[in-house]
Amino acid sequence: MKKSVRKGAFLLVAAMMLVLAACGGNGGNNGNGGNASAGGNEPTAKTEEASGGEAASGKVKLGFSQVGAESGWRSANTDSIKSSAEEAGFDLKFSDAQQKQENQIKAIRSFIQQKVDVIAFSPVVESGWDTVLKEAKDAGIPVILTDRAVDSQDTSLYKTFIGSDFVEEGRRAGNWLVEQFKGKDGDVNIVELQGTTGSAPAIDRKAGFEEAIKGQANLKIIASQTGDFTRAKGKEVMQAFLKANKDIDVLYAHNDDMALGAIQAIEAAGLKPGQDIIIISIDGVKDGFVAASEGKINFIVECNPLLGPQLMQAVNDVLAGKEIPQRIVTEEGVFTSEDAKKELPNRKY
Ligand code: AHR
Repeated sequence: MKKSVRKGAFLLVAAMMLVLAACGGNGGNNGNGGNASAGGNEPTAKTEEASGGEAASGKVKLGFSQVGAESGWRSANTDSIKSSAEEAGFDLKFSDAQQKQENQIKAIRSFIQQKVDVIAFSPVVESGWDTVLKEAKDAGIPVILTDRAVDSQDTSLYKTFIGSDFVEEGRRAGNWLVEQFKGKDGDVNIVELQGTTGSAPAIDRKAGFEEAIKGQANLKIIASQTGDFTRAKGKEVMQAFLKANKDIDVLYAHNDDMALGAIQAIEAAGLKPGQDIIIISIDGVKDGFVAASEGKINFIVECNPLLGPQLMQAVNDVLAGKEIPQRIVTEEGVFTSEDAKKELPNRKY
């Protein structure tokens, strides 16, 4: 009996020593980062990693579908989105649609599958978004439109639209032209390089410009075609315009890149851009400002691409459950050649 008690005591002490040794070994010096006695923490940490890291680390997941890289404006816009997301500490899932709506729809569906917190996108064209936006809404993921609008009747499909007033941009271009030809007789032949067919800026800039010049019977749009917002297409279409029309007085380009392409075509035809043909464009990117300060572009209506900070603020507000306005309009200016000369050294993009 005594023997078995002694044996029991020995086993108990041995067991306690093993426990103590185990505790001591995990006291922070074994390279495992300590805290092993709190065995319950380990599975949690593994779960965080297994569950995909970013969500578990608390970062806001923002899915952003960009139109493409068609212009200087677009590159500046992409840089603004990326740097602002980084500054805000968001996990940005960025997708380039290469100017194709189908790619944007695919990207949005993939963001839904990845269960991002917010989806933002700049729609390449205005129409055809209802189905995919409804899918995002059903998944409980808020959507923010930036830069370009959609024509969906159901405005509950997105939280807000942050961007320029493109109709007003067109109006500003038209109003300036009306001022230049005030009191002058004779027809003024205008050619127009439109943006991407079906896109909000192409539709609205055309409408605003036409509205502004409609009271002036001598201001005539004699040709209008898409240049897809690119320099190459702007050059190609301007070449065709010059071939088909001997008397072009004014070029109205829906963005700087198309105007810059057109300038190449005008110079190649032996004409002086800004003098033989008055040029009005929209955007105000650095290359546009250079051309304007050289007198090759006469008037630029600004379209601000730096939408990143406003977007990140809106994401935070939406996630915090704050009410935000359905429309956030960007502030922008206009620049003559003289203004452009002064502004050029400050132009960041
Ligand atoms: O949607 C904004 C327009 O898209 C810019 O004016 C143009 O340069 C861009 O490609």
